[in-house]
Amino acid sequence: MSLTTHEGLLRPLEEYTRLHLDTLRRFGSRALDLSFPNPQFLSDPRPYEVLASLAAQARPLDMRYSPFGGFTPVRRRVAASLARQHALPYAWNDIVMTPGATAALRVALRSLFSPPDRIILITPCWMDYPLYLQDLGLVVDLVPATRNKRLDVEAIASAWTPATRGIVIAQPGSPTGVIHDDNELKQLAALMLRHSTPTPPLLIADEAHALQVWDETPCPAPATHYPHTITVRSFGKAWDMQGQRTGCLAVSPHLGIRDQAVAALIRDMRVTGHCAPTALTQQLAAALCDTAPDLTGLADLQCHARQQLTRRGLTVLDAHATRFLYARCPAQDDRAFISRLAERGVLVMPSSLFHESGWFRIALNFGRPHLDRAIDVISEEHARA
Ligand SMILES: Cc1ncc(COP(=O)(O)O)c(C=O)c1O
Repeated sequence: MSLTTHEGLLRPLEEYTRLHLDTLRRFGSRALDLSFPNPQFLSDPRPYEVLASLAAQARPLDMRYSPFGGFTPVRRRVAASLARQHALPYAWNDIVMTPGATAALRVALRSLFSPPDRIILITPCWMDYPLYLQDLGLVVDLVPATRNKRLDVEAIASAWTPATRGIVIAQPGSPTGVIHDDNELKQLAALMLRHSTPTPPLLIADEAHALQVWDETPCPAPATHYPHTITVRSFGKAWDMQGQRTGCLAVSPHLGIRDQAVAALIRDMRVTGHCAPTALTQQLAAALCDTAPDLTGLADLQCHARQQLTRRGLTVLDAHATRFLYARCPAQDDRAFISRLAERGVLVMPSSLFHESGWFRIALNFGRPHLDRAIDVISEEHARA
């Protein structure tokens, strides 16, 4: 895959979308779709209940235009909630409400970097980071994670160049679900601080899945380790309401260019035509931001699927967060493996879409017995290879 052209980045995504649609058409309701994270069960019904009640009580002014950046009372509540979670003194205007983490990432990269800056990405990574960077004329340096999909700080140090101006990491990792611990984040921060002249490099901490930790593993915030951090959050991901397009950016109160950064982000929301989330979804985000979703059902599914696949000889990556399960293909060609699964009506995602080969990602979108049928097919095809 070419990281330097739109075509090279978009083609594999579009090919996969075609395979996905063709398989759904061919198998209809018999398809077992574990590809995009569109769960068919509710981990926690609260967003639906709150949205219904907000809609029932809405008056004309509740539907009004939102300022770029979001409504101040919403930003204030989100800032207070994140201040508690990160133990950092966020003010209301450190928060910029965005239509999902997607827009937050794109706007952050556009506002805070310019060509010929180089940005380090850790692979496997969320599929669209390289696309945004390439589109903005920024140079992408891919650095593979360790075998356990942890930060390889030595490899990051080796990839550093005088033009490196930032790093994007996901905490927890996506597609892996691996939670980076304090030690990894401390080492990364120390490396970045060593490169802080003439200006400190920026850390974009994508916390889209931060509230999707399904066991007791602590999930430290990169912003608590490195002051020059912009955090990305997704209320959609946190609460299984991705289609409601709600997220935010949080500029660290310790960021050297805090005020300029916020002003640039809000300007770029306008320039890129990304408005704030809709009026009701902002209220929904504010209503939910002090609580965490109940992930008991997801935890059960995760333990079950991991146990079943491991028992049947697959290598499943040890992880503690997200709806995803990341496992090894029988050979390096992940696309060949997922095509064989699609031939049998099971849809999972090949790791090459996440910029590494040899793995696949399962999104736990439904429970037993359908999940067990999918696990049977995956295990059979794995054994056959
Ligand atoms: C790491 C990561 N960042 C960003 C996003 C996009 O989030 P949103 O749906 O809020 O736009 C995703 C979606 O899967 C993701 O996994």
